[in-house]
Amino acid sequence: MRLIIFGPPGVGKGTISGMLIKKYKIPHISSGNIIRELVHKDKAFSKFKSIVDKGGLLPDDAVIKIIEKRLMKPDCKNGYILDGFPRTIAQAEFLDKDLAKKGINIDHVLDLLASDEVIIERLSGRRMCKNCDAIYHLQNIPPKKAGVCDKCGGELIQREDDQPDVIKKRIIAYHKETQPLIDFYKQKELLVEIDTNKPIDEIFRYVCGVVKG
Ligand code: AP5
Ligand code: MG
Repeated sequence: MRLIIFGPPGVGKGTISGMLIKKYKIPHISSGNIIRELVHKDKAFSKFKSIVDKGGLLPDDAVIKIIEKRLMKPDCKNGYILDGFPRTIAQAEFLDKDLAKKGINIDHVLDLLASDEVIIERLSGRRMCKNCDAIYHLQNIPPKKAGVCDKCGGELIQREDDQPDVIKKRIIAYHKETQPLIDFYKQKELLVEIDTNKPIDEIFRYVCGVVKG
């Protein structure tokens, strides 16, 4: 199973991906998670930290290299979930060529939908585990114990790009750079729209029906 989870910042891509990988035992490739780790740990990437913190997109060639390398790992053989990649037409064209070279296809592009108001509310209340990247929301999906990850006991933190002014910039970048991909994948008849204004379990049941299907 090869899926792309698509949608604006804060719509729930990471949350749904986390549920899918548990059920289908395939890797979750989140470009955002990989980039956040690299800008903190890898000298060559530290120059991109300010772009992430300000809500901009990294240059295509840098992101493509990261994802190309990740897709070559053996755990991707039987499928994967791509979350946050591709995000520009150049990235989508790279992925197309890479898949064609390997003789494989993407099964579905799940386009998660929510209004800008809902997105802002979700991102403002989000907390993330510093240790395992598990995602919570102070009101919508709270941890059992405040500030502590249910899964690994790690500390829950707020992402640096979840400040109101940066959230606005990320939404603008999404509309400008990423939304054009909707037509790209519609033309390939891969796009499935998913309304996320529902409880997470209901969305997950619907998504499982789509991907089995
Ligand atoms: P990335 O980490 O990909 O951020 P994003 O796309 O802005 O998306 P988020 O991770 O913020 O949101 P999400 O959709 O995963 O939502 P979540 O599940 O957490 O990218 C970060 C940065 O890295 C970019 O800005 C850029 O700088 C760089 N980057 C990454 N990829 C790149 C690329 N390809 N090219 C160039 N640069 C790149 O949910 C959000 C909240 O809502 C949580 O609190 C959750 O608990 C809650 N929630 C989720 N679903 C529901 C629901 N149904 N009901 C109620 N609450 C819900
Ligand atoms: Mg995410």
